[in-house]
Amino acid sequence: MERKDFIEQVGLSAASILIFGCMQGCSKSESPAPTPPPSNNNNPPKAIDFTINITTNPYTSLNTAGGFYVDKANNIIIARTLTDEFLAVSSLCTHQQVLLDFQASNNRFYCSGHGSLFSTTGAVLNGPAAAPLKQYKTTRTGNNLRIFE
Ligand code: FES
Repeated sequence: MERKDFIEQVGLSAASILIFGCMQGCSKSESPAPTPPPSNNNNPPKAIDFTINITTNPYTSLNTAGGFYVDKANNIIIARTLTDEFLAVSSLCTHQQVLLDFQASNNRFYCSGHGSLFSTTGAVLNGPAAAPLKQYKTTRTGNNLRIFE
């Protein structure tokens, strides 16, 4: 190979490498930034805080000692004990999500699914459920009952 041919070939190769590198660099800088995947956590759940009037439908069962009401929108069971204490806990059993009842005479929440029992604070009294129910606070002002976290 003659010197002139050698320089031409090396020069072409070097130019090719530079052009290719520039094209890659330019194409990267002109591309829009990758869009992050959509997140389902843009609207974290709001804290529970609502007030009901126990003398109006559908809450009138709470106007009597021993009554209870299930708020299906919030998955909360609200109960009034025989000693006029208002309770609010998660309405779904922690075993397999069966809807709970309130047994006023025994002052406990009962799951007809497999017989789990929960205390007035949501603690497990009898399994197979192993996890407690979430407990909410309640405050009564006249006929209004506030349920909140
Ligand atoms: S679903 Fe409640 S005990 Fe099984």
